Amino acid sequence: FDHCFTKKEDGYLYCENLKVQEVMEVVEKRPFYLYSKPQITRNVEAYKDALEGLNSIIGYAIKANNNFMILQHLRSLGCGAVLVSGNELRLALLAGFDPTRCIFNGNGKLLEDLVLAAQEGVFVNIDSEFDLDNIVSAARIAGKKVNVLLRINPDVDPQVHPYVATGNKNSKFGIRNEKLQWFLDAVKSYPDELKLVGAHCHLGSTITKVDIFRDAAAIMVKFIDEIRAQGFDINYLNIGGGLGIDYYHTGTVLPTPRDLIDTVRELVLSRNLNLIIEPGRSLIANTCCFVNRVTGVKTNGTKNFIVIDGSMAELIRPSLYDAYQHIELVSPPPPESAVSTFDVVGPVCESADFLGKNRELPAPARDSGLVVHDAGAYCMSMASTYNLKMRPPEYWVEEDGSVAKIRHGETFEDHMRFFEGLSI
Ligand code: LLP
Repeated sequence: FDHCFTKKEDGYLYCENLKVQEVMEVVEKRPFYLYSKPQITRNVEAYKDALEGLNSIIGYAIKANNNFMILQHLRSLGCGAVLVSGNELRLALLAGFDPTRCIFNGNGKLLEDLVLAAQEGVFVNIDSEFDLDNIVSAARIAGKKVNVLLRINPDVDPQVHPYVATGNKNSKFGIRNEKLQWFLDAVKSYPDELKLVGAHCHLGSTITKVDIFRDAAAIMVKFIDEIRAQGFDINYLNIGGGLGIDYYHTGTVLPTPRDLIDTVRELVLSRNLNLIIEPGRSLIANTCCFVNRVTGVKTNGTKNFIVIDGSMAELIRPSLYDAYQHIELVSPPPPESAVSTFDVVGPVCESADFLGKNRELPAPARDSGLVVHDAGAYCMSMASTYNLKMRPPEYWVEEDGSVAKIRHGETFEDHMRFFEGLSI
């Protein structure tokens, strides 16, 4: 995955062939997300190429980024969708995703949402005893048999931040291996409601070693053998999402989609399985920068700060997971500017409000642009309105180099609408 935001010799940051500075000059004066549409296409193509020769579904994990225009684009490129709430399911349907290429995941799926999934013919992952119960009820209410997969925890350590590790034995997701027989018996007892079609696992997110996927796939294939031995005709292996990306921009070579698929290809072919993958981050993270303006520079004690107009409200990953996202200025710094170590912080009233710590940067001019890279995944979708910082607008650069708004920024008026017509 190449970076589509690059600094050229003239000292300006470009998105494809467009200066980010020029985009800043023509759009609303507030923090915004800027995407490269061609990069989204290239990321999907990388997965498609990697999957050649396999029967597969690329289930894009909508939680990573739910921009409606982006969803429609991903759908047009042939992606399915991975959903974790009724509203994500509704959105996927509106965006035109083929429901038979959608997977409904989650440890707390609600009955009413399962009913919609059953009506639409979406794959549903069984996550627990009570979840199975709800899926059976949903099938009866919808009058439809549901294609289900069992989400099993292979208990392989993904070697990531604990907040984004999901496939370990004490996880709130999925079922433990020892319970497999109970679930198989339960599925057998509902032949009119459930059709078991596969097994699913998701290990965690930001994984940078593909061996981890191979180990998990090997365990999952053993389960599939066991399940088939009991007469189930199951054909889908879903290995989840989780491939990491190059957040550090240090030139380290990270595994590509091809590396990921190649580690499981033989296993998948040996059992004649359809492969489902659920990438979120690796499809969308590197297609976007969060673009900010420098409000000012200050020093306190031994610390230098660059204060920008964006904050943890629009982009919470650094505050929440101590995540590193690369930061750069969009234009050459003033000639007299010296490089120092800065914390890049927002205006929100708490010390957790930082976008980057200890960054070597030239002191930027006031009002100049500063970007946080790799902001396409889990940034806008996790934005809040804390301190009444409204959710930012989104734009993309199209194939022909033009810029289009793909989501309006939230306004103060939008906020006040929540209180219209209320009386006590
Ligand atoms: N499938 C399942 C069942 C998942 O739980 C997830 C992500 C994915 C697929 C997509 O994983 P990806 O390919 O994007 O790594 N907010 C965190 C990430 C949370 C991931 C949750 N599950 C962050 O900002 O790093």
